[in-house]
Amino acid sequence: MQLNDKKVIVTGGPTREWIDPVRYISNASSGKMGIAIADAAYKQCKELVFIHGPIDGSLISGKPYRCKGVESTVDMLEAIKQELSPNLVLIMAAAPADYKPVTKSPTKIKKTNENLIIELQRNPDILKTIASIKKQHQEFNNIVLIGFAAETTDVIAYGKTKLVEKELAMICINDVSRSDTGFGSDFNEVTVMLANGKIINLHRMTKKEVAEGIINIIINEL
Ligand code: CTP
Repeated sequence: MQLNDKKVIVTGGPTREWIDPVRYISNASSGKMGIAIADAAYKQCKELVFIHGPIDGSLISGKPYRCKGVESTVDMLEAIKQELSPNLVLIMAAAPADYKPVTKSPTKIKKTNENLIIELQRNPDILKTIASIKKQHQEFNNIVLIGFAAETTDVIAYGKTKLVEKELAMICINDVSRSDTGFGSDFNEVTVMLANGKIINLHRMTKKEVAEGIINIIINEL
């Protein structure tokens, strides 16, 4: 698949779900892998948009492509929907929060002597939502979905399940239990699995090199 006639959306970073005006639920994603992919894809594609959750702004200052900041998982889904177009490749390197508090307290929650229970509700699955939009609208039929999987156990098996359930063309599987790669690190080691079952290993290297490897696989294998 050539990218020079394609719009590419790359997502990166965590999302943030507020509990009250001073507290939120989030995760340890730094956004570095998403930025590395955006950098690598930008050189190859027609148009690139990087949609990111709350990340260190210095990581994206001066980037030559459009960057859109969002906060929650629902915000990220809405931002992606606004950018949908035919001939699109969506690379979901973000780590959107899967749950959000049922209600956000308008005032700071004061501590008591009791345990505190916060009820959480499911957020939408962004990739599954876009897969369903893709099927419902003919103009979006050719959108290509690429996912990531952050796993700590049964890495390949869980990755394969996500590839199938999220209707992906390809998934990049990360073992985030390792301290020398993954979240926050400048290094990564990724196993790429294609929808046809082919597996390609990108051994421990910088996130920049992994990103270039992933873009080359998209161009050569999809
Ligand atoms: N993802 C998504 N919408 C969500 C959560 C995740 O589209 N609400 C995407 C991620 O960007 C990634 C892929 O789905 O490309 C897998 O994310 P991951 O966090 O590994 O898995 P989950 O689907 O959230 O499943 P679990 O947390 O149970 O492992």
